[in-house]
Amino acid sequence: MTSAMLLLWIALGIVVQLALWLGIVFWRHWQRYIALQDQANGKSTSPLTESLQSDNASEGWKGFRTFKVIQKTLEDDNGAICSFYLRPEDRQSLPVFKPGQFLTFKLAIPTPGGTAEELIRCYSLSDSPAHDAYRVSIKRVPTPNGTSLPPGRSSNFFHDYVHVGSSLAVRAPSGHFYLNHEASPVVLIGGGIGITPMLSMLNWIVNHQPEREVWLFYGVRNSAEVIMKAHLLALAAQHPNFKLRICFSAPLPGDMTARDFHHRGRIDVALLRTELPLKPFDFYICGPTPMMESLVDALEDWGVPDSRIHFEAFGPASIKRKSSIEPKVSESCTETVMVTFAKSNKQFIWDGTSNSLLEFAESNGVKVESGCRAGGCGSCETRIQSGEVKFSHSPDFDSEPGNCLLCVCIPVTDVVLEA
Ligand SMILES: Cc1cc2nc3c(=O)[nH]c(=O)nc-3n(C[C@H](O)[C@H](O)[C@H](O)COP(=O)(O)OP(=O)(O)OC[C@H]3O[C@@H](n4cnc5c(N)ncnc54)[C@H](O)[C@@H]3O)c2cc1C
Ligand code: FES
Repeated sequence: MTSAMLLLWIALGIVVQLALWLGIVFWRHWQRYIALQDQANGKSTSPLTESLQSDNASEGWKGFRTFKVIQKTLEDDNGAICSFYLRPEDRQSLPVFKPGQFLTFKLAIPTPGGTAEELIRCYSLSDSPAHDAYRVSIKRVPTPNGTSLPPGRSSNFFHDYVHVGSSLAVRAPSGHFYLNHEASPVVLIGGGIGITPMLSMLNWIVNHQPEREVWLFYGVRNSAEVIMKAHLLALAAQHPNFKLRICFSAPLPGDMTARDFHHRGRIDVALLRTELPLKPFDFYICGPTPMMESLVDALEDWGVPDSRIHFEAFGPASIKRKSSIEPKVSESCTETVMVTFAKSNKQFIWDGTSNSLLEFAESNGVKVESGCRAGGCGSCETRIQSGEVKFSHSPDFDSEPGNCLLCVCIPVTDVVLEA
């Protein structure tokens, strides 16, 4: 064989190897593209999805279980957000929850009269699932500016009275706002304390789906409000598929772009459009109501399908989606609707001005239980003796058939409630 022939064979070998390599790379990308397409069309789930969706994430315990606080950590420079690490007193393994879910607490708040007031409150789990402990991160709610109203009872109780060694009554993780386990790229948007479920989702993704593209847009006023920044920066440095964007709406004089934050201003769709590549993202949003309302609307206007926009409100306000706005009962119903509270032996005409039957009952002096006021805790669950109500949005708490949650229900016909 001549040296020219030898060179030719070597060159041919290189070309074949190159072609094989390109073929494999192309095949892998093609497979990924097809998988994403299928997921976008709701056709398939990955093996990981199946294994995770089949875990008994929502199978917790019945009623309240006692937990001990094993660590308490102040998270921000303002001293307004505190994390509590909780371990079950029975030391039995904890059920796996779905990132984004929350815990419900039953608290005995001391009153000035020396008695205790029972309160129910929900707090999102702020870390990925573990078998031995849970973490929640709670923001102290102060007296609203310019009022003489009392400050938030539960949040201040946690900050001031709950310490390492304290016992807490906790209901199992629940909630319908949680991360899907598909491979689709994800955008997490957390405003203020709304970062807590996002931290759980993010920590889960980097541990279990490091291949999955995930963006976190974290909006606060300035550096004094940021929590877990060192953790977020470390994740961003270690995980090329995680992109972090911290947004300050009112930076402090010493806050510097690039060093302390990425964007000045609030999180809006203009920012998302500038930053995000065109991909079938799933959006998870939690934050102040005005931020969520404007973002959800704007994402819909941008063409993001409803099924890809997921959000959670931390309070009574439910976000009204443009696509699902229905006329109020008072507008849609020409007949008078009568609401009867059987136990209280009271009857009132529903005038359509209340946002829920809970508000309606309270404004008419009917004593009813309540907790989260957002359909999450079940405290306001009430039997419907007759008539029909409708839910203003799909609640996190699954009530018994024949019951309703007063905080997220309005009457459709004359209704008799057991309360
Ligand atoms: C699913 C879910 C998850 C949540 N996750 C978190 C979380 O991770 N972290 C977190 O910090 N919070 C979270 N929350 C919010 C939390 O549950 C509480 O709502 C929050 O801590 C405030 O409760 P509070 O008892 O401290 O305030 P409340 O005592 O309920 O007071 C709330 C506000 O009302 C004002 N007020 C008091 N009295 C009156 C009155 N008479 N009239 C009008 N206003 C009055 C108070 O000053 C305060 O501003 C979550 C809520 C839900 C529903
Ligand atoms: S008050 Fe919590 S579900 Fe209604």
